[in-house]
Amino acid sequence: MTDSMQKLKSEALETIKQAANLNALDQIRVQFLGKSGSVTGLLKHVGTLPPEERKSFGEQVNQLRDELTGILTGKQKELEAAALNEKLKAETIDVTLPPTVKPLGSIHPVTQTTDEIVSIFASMGFNLVTGPEIEDDFHNFTALNFPPEHPARSTHDTFFLEPDAEGQAPKLLRTHTSTVQIRTMQDNKPPLKIIVPGRVYRSDWDATHTPMFHQCEGLIVDEIGKIHMGHLKGCLMDFLKAFFNIPDLPTRFRPHFFPFTEPSAEMDIGYARRDGKIVLGEKDKWMEILGCGMVHPNVLKNCGIDPDRYQGFAFGMGIERLAMLKYGIPDLRDMFESDARWLKHYSFSILEQPNRALGA
Ligand code: PHE
Repeated sequence: MTDSMQKLKSEALETIKQAANLNALDQIRVQFLGKSGSVTGLLKHVGTLPPEERKSFGEQVNQLRDELTGILTGKQKELEAAALNEKLKAETIDVTLPPTVKPLGSIHPVTQTTDEIVSIFASMGFNLVTGPEIEDDFHNFTALNFPPEHPARSTHDTFFLEPDAEGQAPKLLRTHTSTVQIRTMQDNKPPLKIIVPGRVYRSDWDATHTPMFHQCEGLIVDEIGKIHMGHLKGCLMDFLKAFFNIPDLPTRFRPHFFPFTEPSAEMDIGYARRDGKIVLGEKDKWMEILGCGMVHPNVLKNCGIDPDRYQGFAFGMGIERLAMLKYGIPDLRDMFESDARWLKHYSFSILEQPNRALGA
């Protein structure tokens, strides 16, 4: 190789070595091997040489060009690999990080609590059923054994709709989910085992009452002897222990009156008040948590079920009340204010699992 070729080669090698990225390398390729590059210039020079020198000069330039092409390709691969590594490093996704789901909204504590209640009862074999919120007097009161003019009707502070043009008795907003007991028993034959969450309405407004709130109803009907008060107690005790996740939660049943159950009871759970806060699971004070009882024979009769063959139990609980106790929410009314700060504090991630099922 001539001296000038040798010089060109070492200059090219040095420049290639220092190329910091693919762009720079491309420029170097143009500088040496492009149309007006220095190596190409040498090739053009071949024609000006005396014939006896042309062959060996030409061979040497070609060799130089091939050598440089090889080195350039090698360097290109090296730079491409480095660029890929760099990119992979920059785009690494840590799959163990929690997902960012905030922009999609979050789960209201009432929805979360409903899901938790339903999932526990579902694990006991209850079937989920829903019913209409606009009801008639029959399903909300009469079929549930409220006698006409009975004072229990007025304790429900019912919202009535305008009577329709045909002068039929006005419809109403259901005051409890017990209406769905009636609808289910009218449409299905026992055995029945249902859980019914849903909205209910009563004209009431204070720290523990809102005109719209949620209840969850439960109903089991089976042949006489298969289902009795002992089952009712066990079922509800198991439910509350699972719901609050307190295995030794103290509970008690107090006699009560509902027109649609006989005997009827209210169930209390034990708690204590410490530093103004409610601590569940103590036996210091008792708090009413739900109503329940054995389905009244008249209710079965009203739905076409023979009370001499079948019996069952029913219960109803307020979902907000359970949510407030479990999640320490002090005022019921805030649940429905749509205050973004409140929601941010009390709501749940959309990927949150409802409460573990029984025993899990
Ligand atoms: N419906 C009753 C209420 O709203 C609750 C209840 C349901 C009581 C089923 C007994 C049985 O207060």
